[in-house]
Amino acid sequence: MIHSFIIFIRRYVNRLIHIPMPTLINGSGELRQSAEILKDANSRNTFIVTDKTLVGVGVVKKLTDFLEKAQLPYVIFDEVTPDPTIAVIEQGVHLYQQNNCDSMIVIGGGSVMDCGKAIAASVVKNKNIQTLSGLFKVRKKLPPFIAIPTTAGTGSEATLVAVVTDPSKKQKFTVIDPCLVPHYAILDPLLMVGLPAKITAETGIDALTHAVESYIGLHGTAQTQSYSLAAIQRIFTYLPQAYQQGDNLTARAEMSLASYYAGVAFTRTSIGYVHAIAHQLGGYYHIPHGLANAVLLPHVLHFSFDNAFQQYAKIAYHLGIVEQHENEIVAAKAFVQAVISLNTTLNIQKTFPELKKQDISLLAKRAMKEAYCEYPVPKQMTTAECEQILLKLLKE
Ligand SMILES: [Fe+2]
Repeated sequence: MIHSFIIFIRRYVNRLIHIPMPTLINGSGELRQSAEILKDANSRNTFIVTDKTLVGVGVVKKLTDFLEKAQLPYVIFDEVTPDPTIAVIEQGVHLYQQNNCDSMIVIGGGSVMDCGKAIAASVVKNKNIQTLSGLFKVRKKLPPFIAIPTTAGTGSEATLVAVVTDPSKKQKFTVIDPCLVPHYAILDPLLMVGLPAKITAETGIDALTHAVESYIGLHGTAQTQSYSLAAIQRIFTYLPQAYQQGDNLTARAEMSLASYYAGVAFTRTSIGYVHAIAHQLGGYYHIPHGLANAVLLPHVLHFSFDNAFQQYAKIAYHLGIVEQHENEIVAAKAFVQAVISLNTTLNIQKTFPELKKQDISLLAKRAMKEAYCEYPVPKQMTTAECEQILLKLLKE
């Protein structure tokens, strides 16, 4: 009862909060615009946040070539690791301040985006990132901030959240503030052609999970639902193509947009149990976020079926996988089956070899704690029900 009341109140409070949209720059070769933006912002020294892999494969050089041509000084911070920790963020803050940087470009996947946002928040507040954990603790404009995703999944280029890992607790925490929405999002499919198929698949299902959890959650609006549907439609059409033909620029461009649209949607509505459980698997075993979501999604869809089937059916009608006159239950089942089939096409595993039976009780407890009163899920899950789902994911 208390839970329903809090979710009800939050739904209305949520709509009062203004969440900005980044300026979207979209298309092959549009990476070059980063130099124009920095020039217009009179940037004296840009802080580039990325990782060593992207430096190694030459993706970062494509960016720095444009900056050098425009005679824009920069500093590269490439220490970002998957699930960035407090220590990595502090290292970045130190380098930013040491070099008197005044603008930021984050170029990479979700971890790079999270790390960049956390560094920028820490810099403007002059505080440790732990003290900014939670809601609305930043409340200060970031330096000119350009997000350039190199995967299509996280949608972080459109969101107000940064996820940080605290290794001492084997847990993640979030910094949430509208100020964390990047000022610019550059979606350039040329940066994604070299992305391995497995990462393409997992990150793509992460975007699907954002769109679906946003769509079936109780905080959806007409605006967020249309962004979710636009994302879901693109993912079902283009993710198999991007997975099978990595150099298919149309598929890469459409997946970039899908991920962005899903980000726009879920940052206004929140997520659900797939993410609540996936975050625990990521924090505890370092299971990649997209993979955890992909494995969990069909199970959570089954669990929520009774309360969310009408929403599933609307997605099925929109995707055209059933006729408009088809019965809602049949349509809803067709959607769940379509998700399972997509996982099969993408060769997504069905269990987690890392998962240990003795950890399940703690993981379930933590997942339910994360979601409680935070995620506007269509159907409440008990810790025991969460344990049942996790038990199915044990490798036999
Ligand atoms: Fe996610």
